[in-house]
Amino acid sequence: MKTLNIGAKIQICSHIELTNDQKNVVEAAKKATFSSYAPYSHYNVGAAVLLDNGIIITGSNQENAAFPSGLCAERTALFYAGSQYPDVPIRKLAIIARQNGKITKNICSPCGSCRQVICESEYRAGSPIEILLCSDTEIYIFQGINGLLPFNFTSDSMKTD
Ligand code: THU
Repeated sequence: MKTLNIGAKIQICSHIELTNDQKNVVEAAKKATFSSYAPYSHYNVGAAVLLDNGIIITGSNQENAAFPSGLCAERTALFYAGSQYPDVPIRKLAIIARQNGKITKNICSPCGSCRQVICESEYRAGSPIEILLCSDTEIYIFQGINGLLPFNFTSDSMKTD
């Protein structure tokens, strides 16, 4: 029997330690929380992606009275980026949430469906997307989706030898 260690390296830093690019994408995500439509959960999520051409696309969660019909902030941003800039790789993704008007004390971590969509965006980009999960004081930085979705399923998984 073999044992495999799949621990991920996560950088944790404060908001003032971010680089300019990181700061810009986090600030855009923070601003996007204000366009969230979350009358059911009252959990306002904002997401922002930085494209390789420098453009930042934002999205926010959009809920629905028929619950499954809503969409998370990350997927709103990623699908918009994919539809408007299909050939431009995504470099960074920031996610942040607001509750009762304040940025949450816990980081906002993507749900399983969003992780799979990030995985596909990364596959399209051809290189790891830097993922920034934010709380009010800290940012957890992942270099690629592997740390959040190990053993992920991509187009390569279906290739025959
Ligand atoms: N949500 C997101 O938009 N992104 C996440 O990473 C976690 C959850 C949304 C979905 C729903 O509108 C609300 O937050 C509560 O689950």
